[in-house]
Amino acid sequence: MEVQTQRIQLFGENHPFQLECGAELSPLHVAYETYGELNEDGDNAILICHALSGDAHAAGAAHINDEVLSQIPFYKTMKPGQSGWWDGMIGSGRAFDTDKYFVISSNILGSCYGTTGPTDINPLNNRSWQADFPTITVRDIVKVQHVLLQKLSVKKILSISGGSLGGMQALEWSIMYPDFVKSIIPIATAARHSAWGVGFNHLARQAVMSDAAWQGGFYDEQPAKGLSLARQIGMISYRTDISFQKRFGRERLENEKDYLEAGNLFQSESYLNYQGQKLVNRFDANSLVTISRIIDLHDVSRGRGELTEVMKTIEAKALCIGIDTDILYPAHEQQTIAEMLTNAQYFEIRSADGHDAFLIEFDQLSRAITPFLDSVSQEK
Ligand code: COA
Repeated sequence: MEVQTQRIQLFGENHPFQLECGAELSPLHVAYETYGELNEDGDNAILICHALSGDAHAAGAAHINDEVLSQIPFYKTMKPGQSGWWDGMIGSGRAFDTDKYFVISSNILGSCYGTTGPTDINPLNNRSWQADFPTITVRDIVKVQHVLLQKLSVKKILSISGGSLGGMQALEWSIMYPDFVKSIIPIATAARHSAWGVGFNHLARQAVMSDAAWQGGFYDEQPAKGLSLARQIGMISYRTDISFQKRFGRERLENEKDYLEAGNLFQSESYLNYQGQKLVNRFDANSLVTISRIIDLHDVSRGRGELTEVMKTIEAKALCIGIDTDILYPAHEQQTIAEMLTNAQYFEIRSADGHDAFLIEFDQLSRAITPFLDSVSQEK
């Protein structure tokens, strides 16, 4: 299945998009991909929501050409034919079965992958927004997705799923558009971001901002060292001691070299360096700062009342998924989310890979999601 990311303008000069913070965005573009066909009733749609550094390319083989690159320059490291980040979950016969469902994956506000964000032009001064990009919330992201879905003629969403920030979007959707959403599958996420999670994001932002190249967020060249360090801090929180030990043990880059030589990195160091550089090559530092802030501000109860009362109002059927080794969004937090909801079931993935298991353990995810979607789609 070859897919090309679409980029469309949803809001323009005469009809700007109003953000929660009071600022307006115009024009506002959204990048998205779709897989499968919408049925006549417009009610077999499933929305897939990505996490912090994700993009709209969730499934299939990427179709990368000059046109795509001119619209989404940060796709420069995406190889033609590259599989989407949830390819193991979306497709014919997979959990999000494109023979049955119309699957939509959209890139979020604040990102650098085709939806309006800090790398886009601020019409007020014709320069990139960079650090002037306004504060965004998950509610803003959901509002934009709602407009996109209406444009795609979706009448009702069968399910909304995503891990991490993706799960936050699913929860917000079920509160903001209760009549539109039949079910949600939040994975390894939060109803409101924890103090622990804010702490990790704070470290990441501090790493970016302490790089001299950051220049208050108005840089010509990416603050590469800071961005790399931010990713490395993130990676530690996405994995576990067990997975690091299993993968790297005490291996060095050159085991036969002098044990005491400082330049002879441990494989664990080498892995983190690699992951840091990989993000520097494919992501924007202001987007990382913006989106980590979106996550920290996430709280479904904000302005709505007590958290437990707000969660009780969610009518959408829910499958809440936790990961037994997740240190960032622990399994007990997912269980609590399920307990607060009125119509929820809980499933736990077993994995050594911690939070990242939602991007790895496709068999276990599918075992829970396939029957859940079958039952939701059979309900009238
Ligand atoms: N030194 C240097 N590089 C190393 C290494 C070492 N000791 N060990 C592995 N690598 C490199 C591999 O060569 C490979 O490179 P490639 O991606 O260019 O092919 C990469 O690290 C593999 O990463 P790994 O984490 O081992 O892959 P995985 O299969 O366990 O996980 C993903 C797959 C998609 C989850 C992971 O690659 C990823 O992108 N994680 C993103 C983290 C994230 O955003 N999580 C969500 C947060 S909300």
